[in-house]
Amino acid sequence: MAISKQEEKALFRFNIIFPMLDASLPRGERSRMVQQICAKEYRIPHSKKTSVSEATVWKWYHAYLEKGTIDSLAPSGRSDKGRRRTITIETEQELLRRYREKPGVPVKYLVDQAIQDGVFGPDDTISISAIYQLIRREKRGYEPTQKDRRAYRAIGSQTIEKEVLERLLEAAHSAPSSANNQPWRLVTVTEAEQLAALKETLSKGNYWAQDAPAITAFVTHPDWSMRIGGRDLAFFELGMAAMAYQIQAVAEGLYVHPIVGFDANKAKQVLGIDDEFVLEILMVTGLPGDVNTLNEKHLASERSARIRKPLKSVATYDRWDDGLFPENKS
Ligand SMILES: Cc1cc2nc3c(=O)[nH]c(=O)nc-3n(C[C@H](O)[C@H](O)[C@H](O)COP(=O)(O)O)c2cc1C
Repeated sequence: MAISKQEEKALFRFNIIFPMLDASLPRGERSRMVQQICAKEYRIPHSKKTSVSEATVWKWYHAYLEKGTIDSLAPSGRSDKGRRRTITIETEQELLRRYREKPGVPVKYLVDQAIQDGVFGPDDTISISAIYQLIRREKRGYEPTQKDRRAYRAIGSQTIEKEVLERLLEAAHSAPSSANNQPWRLVTVTEAEQLAALKETLSKGNYWAQDAPAITAFVTHPDWSMRIGGRDLAFFELGMAAMAYQIQAVAEGLYVHPIVGFDANKAKQVLGIDDEFVLEILMVTGLPGDVNTLNEKHLASERSARIRKPLKSVATYDRWDDGLFPENKS
């Protein structure tokens, strides 16, 4: 087993900031945590220092939030740069077995535990990023349930990989549609200038979307699918595509949030979408970010249980029930 100085330092730093990564920390708690962290003494790998400053801890925290990998905490970028990134098949299988036993366990714990238990053999080179990749591949098999999707708002600015975005679009495009019309059209914006221009069309209440690295426009037109007996199926089908996109996003560990709060005409201009077409919603997508950027109302909603009307007011068996009538919307 080999672990480089750089990796050791990165792991130490990750250990320090790990408690700060809890997205549900109340306002101000993270700052208190930093003070407590800095009041303690440590055996810092490959250093004579025994304490860390608040500025340094914040720097590590933001570096991790931005890149989302332990490697980004290494003193000069990637800790495994230039090294062979390998673990043996046996080690890989053992790590996966352990992960499957406790899905969702933080990679750091998985690795620490594996080191303690002597899982890594003499031929293994521990590369945290390789282990992350392994777990991500494994997670792709994870099937999120409806329960896992919430319209979270604490969306960070980290870039989403192109392959991941492609999988979201593929998922949307796998939705069912009448006569297989596939009336959804999706425009995903990631390019900095376009993204900034699109964000200018957002309503003030959607301030939380300003850091998002990707926004997808969901577009359709009633003529693009069946129109039958007053039913315009294009909108229904666009909605199904949007749901498939969201479930895939959840499976990829992303936050995903549909919004109607934007100036649709201006947004269509920015995106070059024909006036006639309907830009129904924008889908804001990104990795989980810092909840402290949210206002109080949104912070409370981020942590609240899902709010729904009683099931019997929206669903019945065998025949319509007057209890299903919606309350008047003012
Ligand atoms: C079509 C649509 C438009 C929405 N528009 C916005 C919006 O502009 N801003 C916002 O903060 N949330 C928006 N939402 C999110 C809803 O507020 C959210 O889905 C709802 O409160 C239920 O919460 P949940 O998705 O976490 O279960 C929208 C959701 C949908 C489906």
